[in-house]
Amino acid sequence: MRFLVVGAGGREHALCWSLAASPLVSALWCAPGSDAIAREATCVPLAVDDLDGITAVCRAEKIDLVVPGPELPLVLGLADRLEAAGVKVAGPSTAAARLEGSKAFAKAFSARHGIPTAAAKTFSWRECEAAEAYVRAHGAPIVVKADGLAAGKGVTVAADVEQALEALEQAFGGAFGSAGQTVVIEEYLRGEEASLFALVDGRNVLPFGTAQDHKAVGEGDRGPNTGGMGAYAPAPCMTAALTERAMAEIVRPTVAGLAAEGMPYRGVLYAGLMLTADGPKLLEYNVRLGDPEAQVLLVRLMSDLGQLLQGVADGILDHMDLRWYDDAALCVVLATRGYPGAYSNGSEIRGLDEAERLDCVTVFQAATRHEQ
Ligand code: AMP
Ligand code: GLY
Repeated sequence: MRFLVVGAGGREHALCWSLAASPLVSALWCAPGSDAIAREATCVPLAVDDLDGITAVCRAEKIDLVVPGPELPLVLGLADRLEAAGVKVAGPSTAAARLEGSKAFAKAFSARHGIPTAAAKTFSWRECEAAEAYVRAHGAPIVVKADGLAAGKGVTVAADVEQALEALEQAFGGAFGSAGQTVVIEEYLRGEEASLFALVDGRNVLPFGTAQDHKAVGEGDRGPNTGGMGAYAPAPCMTAALTERAMAEIVRPTVAGLAAEGMPYRGVLYAGLMLTADGPKLLEYNVRLGDPEAQVLLVRLMSDLGQLLQGVADGILDHMDLRWYDDAALCVVLATRGYPGAYSNGSEIRGLDEAERLDCVTVFQAATRHEQ
C-alpha cells in the first residue's frame, strides 16, 4: 500500500520511521516532510493546510492511505476532501475534529454524553460582561480557554481573578484572532495529568497506550510552557484499572456519542486527563497523536503501524490487537537556546551519528536542515 504522512515535525518523523518498517507499506510519502524525514519517505513541498495540493498529490501518486500528523488540516477538512476524492484517511472528518478545533463544542458534547470533565460555561465576545461577572462570582484558581486553535497558547490557568480577567481581555481583544472570539471558563481541577490514546475506526476502539509530557522549558517544571520538552510512556499513574475506567467513562462514550450524532470518528483520539480525587476527568480532546508523545508511543509499538492505520480507515479494528515492547520509552527534546522565546536559526547540531549508533537511542528531528 502507498502511504502519505502529513506534517514535518518530530511526530511525523516518528510516524514515517514506524511506517517505513511496515511490510504493508510499499511506498511512503510525506507532505511537506523534512530533510530528516527524507531518509524514510519521498517528501513533497506542500504546506499542511494546502488541502488542494495534498489531495492532488494523493491522486497523482495513487496514495492508498493518508496519515495526518497535526490537527490543523483535519480541522480544515482534509479527511472530507480526501474521502470525496476516493483516498482513505486515518483521521477524523471536519465535523468530528471539532473535538479539538472548538473547546466550546467539546464541552457541550461532553455534557450531552455525560463525560466527566470540569464544570464550565461558554461566552462569546458579545457576552464579555457576563464572562467577567462569572469569573468574579467563581473566584480563582480558574481556567480561561480560547475556543479555537491557538497554537497551544489559548489556555490560561489563572491563579487570581485579575489574571483571569486579563486572559478574557486578551482573548476578546483579538490576541488569538477568531479562535478567541468565544471562550470557555472552566473549573480548576487538581490532580496528576496523563494522556490516553486510542485508535478508533468509527465504531471500534483500540487503546493505544498512555504517556505523560513535560511542558515547562526548565528543570523542575520551571519557566514558560513549550510544545513539549519531553515525554515518557507508559504513564505509571495510569494503572490498568484507571485506564479501563477512563476508556469506559470517557473514550468509549465519546466514540459512541459521535457515531450517534452522525459523525463517526476515525483516527487517533487523544484524551488529556486530570486524575482527580473523583476519578479521571477530561481536560481536552486532541484528534491526533501528541508531539512528543508519538515518539515515545511508536518506539514501544511492536505491532505493525501500517496495518493498524489501515484497520482505522477500513473499520476493522475489531479484528486487530496490539503488542508493545516491555521497555518504557523516554523522549528528551534538545531545543535551541532561547526556545520558546526568541532564538537564532542555523546553529549546528553535532553528535547525531554517535547517538544513533547506541542501541537504545532513536533520534527524531524537527525544524532541522541537512547541510553537507
Ligand atoms: P488544554 O489545552 O485544555 O489541555 O490545557 C492546557 C493545559 O492547561 C493542560 O495540560 C493543563 O495543564 C492545564 N489545564 C487545562 N484545563 C485545566 C483545568 N480545568 N484545571 C487545571 N488545569 C487545567
Ligand atoms: N504534547 C502535547 C500535544 O501534542 O498536544
